[in-house]
Amino acid sequence: MKKQTQSIRIQADRSHNREHSVPLYLTSSFTFEDAEQGRAIFADEQAGNIYSRYMNPNVDEFVEKMCMLENAEDGIAFSTGMAAIFASMAGLLKSGDHVVASNALFGSAIQILTKITAKWGIECTFVPGHDLSAWEKAIKPNTKFMFCESPSNPGLELIDLEALAKLKEGKNIVLAVDNCFATPILQTPMDLGADLVIHSATKYIDGQGRVLGGIICGKKEFIQEIRFFARHTGPSLSPFNAWVLSKSLELLDLRMEKHSSNAQALAEALEGHSALHAVKYPFLPSHPQYALAKKQMKYGGGILTIDIKGGFAKVQTFSKLLKIVSISPNLGDSRTIMTHPASTTHSKLSPEDKAAVGITEGLVRIAVGLEHIDDLKADMINALDAIR
Ligand SMILES: Cc1ncc(COP(=O)(O)O)c(C=O)c1O
Repeated sequence: MKKQTQSIRIQADRSHNREHSVPLYLTSSFTFEDAEQGRAIFADEQAGNIYSRYMNPNVDEFVEKMCMLENAEDGIAFSTGMAAIFASMAGLLKSGDHVVASNALFGSAIQILTKITAKWGIECTFVPGHDLSAWEKAIKPNTKFMFCESPSNPGLELIDLEALAKLKEGKNIVLAVDNCFATPILQTPMDLGADLVIHSATKYIDGQGRVLGGIICGKKEFIQEIRFFARHTGPSLSPFNAWVLSKSLELLDLRMEKHSSNAQALAEALEGHSALHAVKYPFLPSHPQYALAKKQMKYGGGILTIDIKGGFAKVQTFSKLLKIVSISPNLGDSRTIMTHPASTTHSKLSPEDKAAVGITEGLVRIAVGLEHIDDLKADMINALDAIR
């Protein structure tokens, strides 16, 4: 069956009521027929549900769909995207290991690598993500993990994932890709040589800004190690959130196509506006990695950035003039959102680190929603015309 069909038809078991919509298994634990069955399930001699920190039919349904979409063997769901990112490192790394990571990462991922795993003797070298020779030079004998986002948040920098994966060939290194911006509809990093794919399911996987969630999909051998960490430390996804997320996957490909066509049209309409230094979008020919974007991604995705002339003061006026667009730190919602990364999501980065990944005082991230494109263009252009 095609993936779109499977996204709709992979479903947890029904109850005796024969519901059409999947029931919500809102339960902390499950019962055994007798003590012997409990023993056998705990001993892995028999399949069965135990406890919702380990497994739950709604969570399992969500994981199965995500693994199908990402072409991955196995997966684990988490309460948030950050819990997933942290578990990938905490589950696989030990003191003395070394990580190479792109410097264009979501702010909290940088905080984990500089302030938390660093405390436990796991050293990280940050490199400009697009610079493959920098990755190559940074790899050391004790390098065990490479981590990147493509496209990155918020700079929309791309990494040639196939070429990056080649750098770790023959080495004992796990390559983990945060696929949050692209989703498996636009690119499947496992097919390009990644070992793990990580998502903040809070974003496009939900798609309507309702629930938090995270997931890691990937090679079984690594997922098993991370599962040990997750089962015993407990950053589990709730059954309710899994139910919402799994339902959302039924429409992911339709949504990503529309997010992308709206973002493409908006990027084209805003490019060249005199209130802006620049508009950045992977599928605009002016994007420095346009050719790679076209090769690696099916569509350009739902995010674009605009760099407003005049810095924060003008960003503030612009934000007050918008009538439809929400001002929020989230993305991947059906409602268009503007974010000012320098003062919110990436505010903890040093001025040098911000400059290195293009986070200027005028940079605004637009997570384009599913409203009618004419209304979005009018709202943004009216606000920009008024500040130039
Ligand atoms: C690229 C990326 N990865 C990870 C995260 C963290 O996800 P969560 O908020 O679900 O913990 C975010 C959140 O904005 C993100 O944009």
